[in-house]
Amino acid sequence: MSTAFELAVGPDGLATLTFDSPGRPVNVFTREAMAELEEVIGRLAGRSDVRFLVLLSAKPENFVAGADIDEIAGVEDPALAAEGARLGQRLFGAWSELPFPTAAAVRGSCMGGGTELALASEYVLLSDRPDLRIGLPEVRIGILPAWGGCSRLPRRIGIAAALDLILAGKTVDPRKAFRLGLADALLPDASFLRQVREFAAGVVAGRRPARRRRGGLMGIVLERNPLGRKVLFDQARKQVLRQTAGLYPAPLRALEVVRVGVEKGLAAGLEAEARAAGELAVSRECKSLVHVFRLMEGAKRDAPGGAVPRPVGSVAVLGAGVMGGGIAQLITATAALPVRLKDVAPEPLAGGMAHAAALFRKLVERRRLSRPEALARLALVRPGLDYRGFGRVDLVIEAIVENLEVKQKVFAELAQQVPAGAILASNTSSLPIRGIARDTPEPGRVVGMHFFNPVHKMPLVEVIAAEGTAPGTVATVAAFARRLGKTPVVVKDGPGFLVNRLLMFYMAEALWLLDEGHRIEDLDRAMTEWGMPMGPMALTDEVGIDVAVKVAHILAGAFGDRLPLPDWIDRLSDEGRLGTKSGRGLYVYDGRRRTAPDPEVYRLLGLTPRIQDPDRGRLAERMVLPMVNEAARCLEEGVVRSAGDLDLALILGTGFPPFRGGLCRWADRQGLAGLVEAMARLAGQVGERFTPSPALVRRAAGGGFYAAGDPSG
Ligand code: NAI
Repeated sequence: MSTAFELAVGPDGLATLTFDSPGRPVNVFTREAMAELEEVIGRLAGRSDVRFLVLLSAKPENFVAGADIDEIAGVEDPALAAEGARLGQRLFGAWSELPFPTAAAVRGSCMGGGTELALASEYVLLSDRPDLRIGLPEVRIGILPAWGGCSRLPRRIGIAAALDLILAGKTVDPRKAFRLGLADALLPDASFLRQVREFAAGVVAGRRPARRRRGGLMGIVLERNPLGRKVLFDQARKQVLRQTAGLYPAPLRALEVVRVGVEKGLAAGLEAEARAAGELAVSRECKSLVHVFRLMEGAKRDAPGGAVPRPVGSVAVLGAGVMGGGIAQLITATAALPVRLKDVAPEPLAGGMAHAAALFRKLVERRRLSRPEALARLALVRPGLDYRGFGRVDLVIEAIVENLEVKQKVFAELAQQVPAGAILASNTSSLPIRGIARDTPEPGRVVGMHFFNPVHKMPLVEVIAAEGTAPGTVATVAAFARRLGKTPVVVKDGPGFLVNRLLMFYMAEALWLLDEGHRIEDLDRAMTEWGMPMGPMALTDEVGIDVAVKVAHILAGAFGDRLPLPDWIDRLSDEGRLGTKSGRGLYVYDGRRRTAPDPEVYRLLGLTPRIQDPDRGRLAERMVLPMVNEAARCLEEGVVRSAGDLDLALILGTGFPPFRGGLCRWADRQGLAGLVEAMARLAGQVGERFTPSPALVRRAAGGGFYAAGDPSG
């Protein structure tokens, strides 16, 4: 049997236990690994020759990834799940009681169970690698740290700091971990093992480093008295509710569990952890979040079509506007590659550079980069008005005006400037890639690389494979998107590609509801209560009413009767009412801050907001169902390869609530047959546009979006 743990004891009494999950790129606490660790701890407890024990990882990039996600996905019985938590607690408890000092020597990313074992160790020694992350991200998959994390972290770093990490599932870099008191020492990576050894020898020789108490005087005063603690927990609760709208149970449970551990002692805290973990692990939210986590992991590995990506060493960006400036900044910030940024006039170039500089300033403020590093990265962007330097680029990303003729001309021109084989990608949000490539020799190298706005924040890139696009081109752009820290989803060329197409069906339905007499704020509230980060009306303002209306017309032209639009739609942007950017849209703005819905809008559109207190759950369903209908069509047309890809794209591209697992997963959970019936009813009551598509009817008959055959199901 291959083993995960290897123990070595030196003649000086310094022992190392090295974790190396067999056959995996990262260390995982599987059932087998836990059983083995239990046996090792048993053996260690009886040894009198060990004077100090160091826990190490044999994986170069990873200390421990955490518990086995497959076990969490599979568990259906809360009692069993709680028992799993108690087992880990017993094990880590035994570890903390070993008769000699222990240290977790962390040199790669350390998550969940790994952090909990580190917390059960006497010392935590961290490498100073800037890319290292340590934390307790459990709430992100709908559970909580239940192998002692909720109970031990506050004891080590204070209540406020512990809540800050646990409730948001945050991970921190080594410097921050050391500042918080989560680590006892920050050791240079180059001499890490030697320094760990010296640390151990020092402790054995009686030099015990004093643990500093963090959190400042105010923090200590607050945390030491019951009233202060009450204030702290109340504030944390309010913040969680603000951030999650109460839709995510895990952080609220974690808050209660931390409180029990603080007020009633370690044993009570551990028991509360186990009980809460049992209940959470079988919840709908947890299963959906685990599903999304797996989709994300899949997207990291996936090589579309099996083609091998080519290396990208130098890039050009065309157009220095909102998107181009953001893309140039992203490439230098994440991949540190040289970027040529070309525009047609000096003013937009200056604007694009200023935009990039502002984003770098924020990274410095947040201590993600030092000032000199940020300046060096910014200097990698070379602005210009001509094609100088294009002769050496591997990839061009075009982000110029949304106009087919202009793009066609520019692509044909570009092909003359770049080396043979260089990839030409367009960031277009609505034009067909095949059309853009019309006059370009070698159309196999033309592809869509659709970033979302704002580029530095939005995690999705749609990689659009047109009919003639070569698989190697698609693979290269997808790999490059990953390198920029984005998640690529490969989609087929077509109106609105995937995300904007689905989204437009939802936004158009919101307009129809407005037409029926609903209020702007009710429509938005319906969707934020459902879990969207922003309602459709506010989103229209953010996107820009002019832009939204233009895209709506393009898609309505493509989809005909399926996507009818109210006849007043063009009046929306009359009188310079363009949304957030013009200070007036469906809402009134104070600077960029949304204040209240603008009653003028109803007058402008000739509508009467007569419906009081509507059933917001039904409103949400009205807006989501058209997307479900269209999702089935997208899958059938091969616009997207799987329900999993579709769900991931919508979550990352629109903020579709992750706790619902994605649109298709949500629809499956509701029961597709029932949704088809609901749509048929709406088709009779509201409009033909609700008629269930034959594609959806077939999906329903076949057992749902994730029925057998979908690899991501
Ligand atoms: P923008 O209007 O802010 O910037 C376009 C820039 O391209 C301008 O600075 C203009 O001077 C420059 N330009 C025009 N013709 C050029 C040429 N021949 N060579 C070099 N530069 C040229 O536009 P934005 O919003 O950045 O959009 C750019 C592209 O990205 C469009 O295709 C748009 O559909 C797409 N897009 C826009 C998103 C958004 O939210 N703004 C989101 C996703 C994609």
